[in-house]
Amino acid sequence: MALVLLLLQLLFLRPASAKSSNMSMTMARPGCQERCRDVTIPYPFGIGDSNCYKQGYNLTCEEGKLFIDTGNNRQQVLEISLGGQLRMYAAISYKCYSSVHESDRRDSFTSIINLQSLPYTISDTSTRFMAIGCDTIASINGFTSSNRNSTVGCSMLCGDRESVVNGSCSGIGCCQTFIPKGLKKMNLELGTNNAHREIMEFDWWCDYALLVEGNWYQFSMADLEHFHLGEKASVVPVVLDWSIENYTCENISRDDPSFACGKNSDCVNSPNGLGYICNCSQGYRGNPYLENGCQDIDECADKSMNDCLGICRNTPGSYNCSCPPGSKGDGRRFPCKKKQFPVDQVIIEYIHLAIDKTHLTTVVQGTFGYLDPEYFRSCRFTEKSDVYSFGVVLVELLTGEKPISPIGPQEWKNLAAYFVSSVEENCLDNILDPQIVREDRKEEIQVVSDLARRCLNLNGKKRPTMKDVALGLEGLRKSEGQPLAQQNAQDDRRSIS
Ligand SMILES: *[C@@H]1O[C@H](CO)[C@@H](O)[C@H](O)[C@H]1NC(C)=O
Ligand SMILES: *[C@@H]1O[C@H](CO)[C@@H](O)[C@H](O)[C@H]1NC(C)=O
Ligand SMILES: *[C@@H]1O[C@H](CO)[C@@H](O)[C@H](O)[C@H]1NC(C)=O
Ligand SMILES: *[C@@H]1O[C@H](CO)[C@@H](O)[C@H](O)[C@H]1NC(C)=O
Ligand SMILES: *[C@@H]1O[C@H](CO)[C@@H](O)[C@H](O)[C@H]1NC(C)=O
Ligand SMILES: *[C@@H]1O[C@H](CO)[C@@H](O)[C@H](O)[C@H]1NC(C)=O
Ligand SMILES: *[C@@H]1O[C@H](CO)[C@@H](O)[C@H](O)[C@H]1NC(C)=O
Ligand SMILES: *[C@@H]1O[C@H](CO)[C@@H](O)[C@H](O)[C@H]1NC(C)=O
Repeated sequence: MALVLLLLQLLFLRPASAKSSNMSMTMARPGCQERCRDVTIPYPFGIGDSNCYKQGYNLTCEEGKLFIDTGNNRQQVLEISLGGQLRMYAAISYKCYSSVHESDRRDSFTSIINLQSLPYTISDTSTRFMAIGCDTIASINGFTSSNRNSTVGCSMLCGDRESVVNGSCSGIGCCQTFIPKGLKKMNLELGTNNAHREIMEFDWWCDYALLVEGNWYQFSMADLEHFHLGEKASVVPVVLDWSIENYTCENISRDDPSFACGKNSDCVNSPNGLGYICNCSQGYRGNPYLENGCQDIDECADKSMNDCLGICRNTPGSYNCSCPPGSKGDGRRFPCKKKQFPVDQVIIEYIHLAIDKTHLTTVVQGTFGYLDPEYFRSCRFTEKSDVYSFGVVLVELLTGEKPISPIGPQEWKNLAAYFVSSVEENCLDNILDPQIVREDRKEEIQVVSDLARRCLNLNGKKRPTMKDVALGLEGLRKSEGQPLAQQNAQDDRRSIS
């Protein structure tokens, strides 16, 4: 019985792929609104009830737009990443003139962001400072998380039109610079070097200063000449770093009631140097700030997440790869290979068990591909039906193919029928499993193939009896000094018992 099961596993349980599951990850606390139109709001962020967010991470959703409070004003949130960043729109500073005199300024705006007492800083890695204008000085007057005044800036000349290079922000018409780390509060100021004496002959023009995400803005001459930037984009995307402040991973314990990370997550010190962020541990995904937010990834369900060619079993945080019983390898670097044709050990015992036909009848015979073709006429299993099914098993071992197999001249082919015709046409070599084909085995393979062919006779009466089959194989074992796969006999015995 056990052997039949083993054989069945060996034959049927090809690399198993687990059912694909697509758990919907919950990002918000239970009962809390998870989205504001198309922006996801992951806890510790939240809107509405104070249960829905951690202190300092409250947002508001109005008419489908999500807002964050940045001191004197609020900004629209575009995206929140659990990696500790938040993209939002921020206003740009501008000063527009109709003559070189400061008194003739037409319009101006100073952009201010104040994140003091909030767990955010302006991301120095993802945001840069840029200014556009002619003969202009632009600066960030800022205050950092380490309580330092910090002023950085850049200045630009104008020159003539020919010297402006589109796409190049390098001091003519446009300048840019990095921003200090840990910026909590800032205003973007604009001034002039030489009272705009160097300007081109424009009727009026504007100077601009902006904090902007990465490569979002590409300078173009048109922005200088047509003074459109203010209308085109009075707000531009800016990236903030957010973290759980006051503690680092080193000085907070997992048991501390204020510890923000849930189960199956790791504490990671924040890249901006303030506090820590949480990250789902390897093999988990979801929201690490929720108690049970990090959920196991079923690596087996996604081929790109596992390197298993054998039987893949999902485990918490990982997966296990193994080969079916009766085969060798680890399913990865060493792919699963059926052990070589174990005539002397397995088959004979298989027959012995197969003769106890309850199992074979219910399991093997009932399986399409193993079914005695006579059964379709008579609807009755006979002793010779076992012989047919056994013939199919032999063919599988000889060819390494499934009983319904894509080999052969037509796309899908009944393996048994194809095998019989190959034996009859004497072209077995095309169909045998290369693993078992060896010069010194030719005769054995011939004997076994012939036996299989006789078992597969469509007329049950012409098939040998099980006893004949057993005797034939027994004879083969005795007559051959070197039975098939003798070298594996030990392993096989172990895997059978
Ligand atoms: C899971 O579902 C989401 C939303 O329906 C979809 O965007 C995503 O591609 C799905 N993932 C997988 C692995 O099927
Ligand atoms: C968050 O809560 C504080 C304190 O109640 C409030 O001043 C602030 O406006 C709120 N922020 C938003 C974006 O609603
Ligand atoms: C930072 O600058 C402001 C005004 O520019 C000033 O009032 C404040 O005292 C300065 N703070 C420090 C710590 O230097
Ligand atoms: C720069 O781009 C503007 C349009 O954006 C174009 O009119 C101008 O010819 C370009 N200048 C150069 C030098 O490519
Ligand atoms: C961090 O410390 C400040 C000052 O002590 C306090 O106001 C704030 O609530 C603390 N934040 C957290 C998340 O504990
Ligand atoms: C934790 O460590 C950080 C960095 O060393 C320090 O700034 C902070 O004050 C410490 N917090 C506590 C509560 O010990
Ligand atoms: C978060 O964990 C993943 C693996 O689970 C790792 O690849 C990633 O680098 C981690 N992120 C940080 C910021 O440590
Ligand atoms: C993986 O599977 C093998 C064989 O079934 C077993 O011996 C091993 O303990 C499993 N490992 C884990 C981590 O489950």
